[in-house]
Amino acid sequence: MSLYENYRKTSINYDKTRVPIGLEIILGCFAKSGKPLNEMIVLDAGCGTGSYSHALHEYVRRIEAIDINPAMVEIASRKLKRHREEGRITFSQASIDALVFTSRMFDAIMINQVLHHIDNPNDQGYPTHHRMLREFHRVLRPKGILVINTCSHEQLRHGFWYYRLIPEAFGEIIRRYMPIDQLIEMLFEYGFTYRGSFVPLHDVLQGEAYFDPYGPLKKQWRDGDSVFALVTPNQLYRACERIRDMDSRGTLLSFVKEHDSQRKVTGQATFLLAVRE
Ligand SMILES: C[S@@+](CC[C@H](N)C(=O)[O-])C[C@H]1O[C@@H](n2cnc3c(N)ncnc32)[C@H](O)[C@@H]1O
Repeated sequence: MSLYENYRKTSINYDKTRVPIGLEIILGCFAKSGKPLNEMIVLDAGCGTGSYSHALHEYVRRIEAIDINPAMVEIASRKLKRHREEGRITFSQASIDALVFTSRMFDAIMINQVLHHIDNPNDQGYPTHHRMLREFHRVLRPKGILVINTCSHEQLRHGFWYYRLIPEAFGEIIRRYMPIDQLIEMLFEYGFTYRGSFVPLHDVLQGEAYFDPYGPLKKQWRDGDSVFALVTPNQLYRACERIRDMDSRGTLLSFVKEHDSQRKVTGQATFLLAVRE
């Protein structure tokens, strides 16, 4: 299970604010595999409610989508019922660090916004990341593509205006994200060649909802960012009071504007491209 987010509960609201970003980047990375897109078999690792599989299935031959959380798998499975019945996509409940797939069966793997869920920051050395990359190397064919969508520490610092309101949870979430440099080192360690990173500068993970200055006051909105699972009731109360206070003084919009200004430079997410040797 995700170590801190209760996706059994938040899965209901997840799709209300989250959008799959960077689709053209992922397709561009897949195209590097040397195989036509429509012949590719792809693993969606940590598929959540299936947003990425839903957006990309029509380009590829088949997707195997896995997630550790049964509620997420259930929603994804329902959403893509027709494609499932046509044999274009399969959903299963499984952890990314213990795959049941045969060796070398995938042409590509995508893993979107999952890494910060898999290891506890107090665990020494990100053990699940290690097991996961070993498994990814095993199930990818030689020259197969790995696309990792995650956030850099700089993006976490500057890409989310509301993190200013919840400094304690921010401090905790940033420790769950492996620094990108370290991730790249680890890719080499497990037999991948790193080919570069891409940032969709104009896309935001929560779509238009991200810009709602009253967003943090609403549970449905908060369910779109797992950082709120790390916010205590007291801290949430303080953050909400601060929003109400700024609203009454007429400074809320300028607060959002000020703390969102760097996002246009850093973006919110980084896509790493690696090739399995
Ligand atoms: C932020 S969501 C991202 C979902 C989806 N990839 C997307 O971008 O819309 C993180 C997902 O990772 C899943 N997850 C966490 N730990 C996992 C693990 N060890 N194996 C598989 N999935 C995991 C969670 O259940 C959750 O659905």
